[in-house]
Amino acid sequence: MTDSASTGAALARRYEDVLVITIDHPPVNALSAAVRADLAAAVRDAQADPQVRAIVLTGAGRNFIAGADIREFGKPPQPPILPNLCNQIEASAKPVVAVLHGAALGGGLEVALAAHYRVALPGARLGLPEVTLGLLPGAGGTQRAPRLMGAQAALDLMLSGKHLSAEEALDAGLVDSLASESDALDAGLAYARQLLALRGGPRRTRDATAALADKPAALAATDAAADRVARTSRGLFSPARIVEAVRAAIELPFDEGLGVERALFLQCLDSPQRAGLVHAFFAERETAKIPELKQARPRGVERVGIVGGGTMGAGIAVAVLDAGLPVVMVEQDDAALERGRARVAHVYDLLVDKGRMRADERAARLARFTGSTHYDALADADLIIEAIFEDMDAKLAVFAQLDRVAKPGAVLATNTSYLDVDRIAAATRGPADVLGLHFFSPANVMKLLEVVVGRQTAPDTAATGFEFARKLRKIPVRAGVCDGFIGNRILAAYRQAADMMMEDGASPYDIDAAVRAFGYPMGPYQMMDLAGGDIGWATRKRRAPTRDPALRYVQIADRLCERGWFGQKTGRGYYLYPDGARQGQQDPDVLAIIDAERLRAGVRPRPYTQEEIQRRYLAAMINEAANVLRQGIALRPSDIDVVALSGYGFPRYRGGPLHYADSVGLPAILADLREYAKEDPAFWTPSPLLVELAGAGRDFTSLNRAA
Ligand code: CAA
Repeated sequence: MTDSASTGAALARRYEDVLVITIDHPPVNALSAAVRADLAAAVRDAQADPQVRAIVLTGAGRNFIAGADIREFGKPPQPPILPNLCNQIEASAKPVVAVLHGAALGGGLEVALAAHYRVALPGARLGLPEVTLGLLPGAGGTQRAPRLMGAQAALDLMLSGKHLSAEEALDAGLVDSLASESDALDAGLAYARQLLALRGGPRRTRDATAALADKPAALAATDAAADRVARTSRGLFSPARIVEAVRAAIELPFDEGLGVERALFLQCLDSPQRAGLVHAFFAERETAKIPELKQARPRGVERVGIVGGGTMGAGIAVAVLDAGLPVVMVEQDDAALERGRARVAHVYDLLVDKGRMRADERAARLARFTGSTHYDALADADLIIEAIFEDMDAKLAVFAQLDRVAKPGAVLATNTSYLDVDRIAAATRGPADVLGLHFFSPANVMKLLEVVVGRQTAPDTAATGFEFARKLRKIPVRAGVCDGFIGNRILAAYRQAADMMMEDGASPYDIDAAVRAFGYPMGPYQMMDLAGGDIGWATRKRRAPTRDPALRYVQIADRLCERGWFGQKTGRGYYLYPDGARQGQQDPDVLAIIDAERLRAGVRPRPYTQEEIQRRYLAAMINEAANVLRQGIALRPSDIDVVALSGYGFPRYRGGPLHYADSVGLPAILADLREYAKEDPAFWTPSPLLVELAGAGRDFTSLNRAA
């Protein structure tokens, strides 16, 4: 090393004839305006410095570069813009080597593609995940990636947003070499020195031709991708533009292709979908930041106990085993325990059968699983999760047992969807150790975990819930105690709105179609058929004595359940499923039952447009969400958005119900509610929070900032 000059976000340091530029912009070296400016200056200065013969680009910390700075989207662009920076790097008269470690994603990978050589360190993750943010790679990625890896592979990478390992990237032609060194500086210097020794000069990706040499095959790949996108991308804006940009890479000279990419990128950047998806990205990272837990230290969790081996218990067991922790499952008798064990094994069997897990991995996970019919087996557990059926008395009985056997300091969790966690906690001698962990089914797949903090839950107990979620790679959302917490409480409101529309004239098929057209993967009645109508029926019967008589009660679901029509598992529900079909057919008998119910209730049916169905459905959802927020059940609006996105199928590109409400405008939502309240004030009365925000010209986003 002979020379040193700090440029702030990018540090340039010369090691004899090699200039190493290290991007140093915590936490993930995102390409902010400052980074771009420093990088551009360092590359420019290197051209003029006769002592520099080669340039190495590296990232400080855990990553190369995680991409464009997502926080800058939607703000006026600051020069140098990333595409120009990439072109500048590519135009360097001195060879540029990018050394990739950790994340080399989005704009980060585009910088690397503009470099002349790429070396990947073990553990590097390369990808162009812009599609997940409603964008396309807008700094030459759509033009350079196909030139290195071919149209088909580049389209796969960009349309899926997936990450490639260093080895996969080498196979795909994205990188030139895998470093044996684990240090980026050593690897970069070694590569650059070798390059200089071999007189290797700049080698521009824009000039690469081999991967696109078979033009008909490349065009056929884009046609196939266009078809696939049209069939599967359900209203998403950017995938079709990605295909268009790749077509330009095949058909046009490089600079013209870049122009097409830029125009398409700007369309994506301006789209509300980009705003929704970026909101979702940050919202998911916000949920674990709980001001009240800042000082709290989570308790260590090395061993997990689970009471109940049903669908939920087994799914939770798999999630815990997958996180590398041992599980002891307790069931009431040998047969039930055996069924629980079989459910856990079945999940792994399927993965092995599909080639997604090796047999030895399956064995290793199952080796961490033990079962017992005695509560005493839980005496060592640091965290015990009760996952039996939803019945308060049964849960109280379990907690009485847990209170007896759990070691001091063990955290006791109930996996309940709506029961009173405070009452359950009160059944123990240590209510401070009790919290709710509401998993979503299938528990080993679904990312959402509601961490229900009771009145007496100690901060370190709550912090343990969040830390446990992190270990399980779930998205934890803090919820207060109420009937249904965040998600199910809001769900109950919009299902009620749907049921009322059904009785008033819309068919369940109209409602499902309208909800799908909004972007949900399925409508509420398809969902009920999938989940099984019997579960909701049991709940309704249990709640009947305490039902609010002022609230309208639509009985159509009860009529179906009385006939044993519980949905897919019984071959019919709202839809018919002949011969075990998964795709339901409309059922004239259901329509006749609905007609009879309308008659009984004295309702004269009226037509509903798709737009009205969507507006009522969303208004009910947003209104209840506002009440949930106002009552402190959710900490911040974006937490509610995350619950809806990751647990209830709300279309991600719309950002969640409260982001959506802001984008529509709260006065418009309020006006709808007031209109509907004329028919049924008990249900549609606007939330005071909504009234207050709309009156003050504020939106939900302003509360996010305040949280
Ligand atoms: N811009 C701004 N901030 C970013 C960022 C980005 N590209 N990527 C991550 N961050 C922030 C996160 O918001 C988080 O901030 P807080 O600590 O304040 O919450 C912090 O960096 C750490 O992020 P994670 O919690 O996600 O850390 P991780 O270690 O779990 O994951 C990661 C690291 C894999 C890089 C992950 O953050 C990630 O996937 N980032 C986004 C990558 C991406 O999508 N890049 C493409 C950007 S679009 C683009 O580049 C467009 C273009 O072509 C011009």
